[in-house]
Amino acid sequence: MANTPTPHNKAQLGDIAKTVLMPGDPLRAKYIADTYLEDPVCFNTVRNMLGYTGTYKGKKISVMGSGMGMPSIGIYSYELYNFYDVDNIIRIGSAGAIQDEVELMDVVIGMGACTDSNYAHQYNLPGTFAPIGTYGLLEKAVQAAREQGTTVKVGNVLSSDVFYDADETAFDRWRSMGVMAIEMEAAALYMNAAKARKNALCILTISDHLYRHEGLSAEERQVGFGKMMEIALELA
Ligand code: HPA
Repeated sequence: MANTPTPHNKAQLGDIAKTVLMPGDPLRAKYIADTYLEDPVCFNTVRNMLGYTGTYKGKKISVMGSGMGMPSIGIYSYELYNFYDVDNIIRIGSAGAIQDEVELMDVVIGMGACTDSNYAHQYNLPGTFAPIGTYGLLEKAVQAAREQGTTVKVGNVLSSDVFYDADETAFDRWRSMGVMAIEMEAAALYMNAAKARKNALCILTISDHLYRHEGLSAEERQVGFGKMMEIALELA
């Protein structure tokens, strides 16, 4: 039996490009398709997890929402890699900074993604797996940022299962290990990519600072988002 369509994605094999950008919010995916892509065609509406394929600078590229958290991006990215022949998934999202030198609006790239999740349990490994972004995509992203005059901070992020953490000192320990920022999806994406022998990268804008209790205005969010998008689109 064919694996496509799936219970979560009504696209047919061939409807989705080899490279997919994944914001968390499906309406962000629609906004990106409408704003940056030529001739976007919607390939998914199941659960309103909107997905579009179009072209950017003549190259075919897709954009689809991932939802929030590792179970959600885990499902969608698994299907894209294993059932839709997708090679590259670039998560584009927001994160909360936990280092003094990481500022609001900074663009952060997760070279590695630490996690408090049990996602790797399924692989039954005899140790701890280190989820990492794909070096080739990382190199291309850093190069694109340099050409665009955008400074990027590259290092470890934390993919957490909890936004409202009952352990109020958990951030302090991740901070003491040099982890730059917290988000909720990269580690699962990197593990799915590793298992499928595919490529992944997570590019983030800092939307809030968890120690300085600062947040971005709507306008600042849009500017920061634009800088991240210009880098991500170059990976098509
Ligand atoms: N925690 C988790 N994910 C986030 C945060 C945060 O503080 N800010 C933006 N995404």
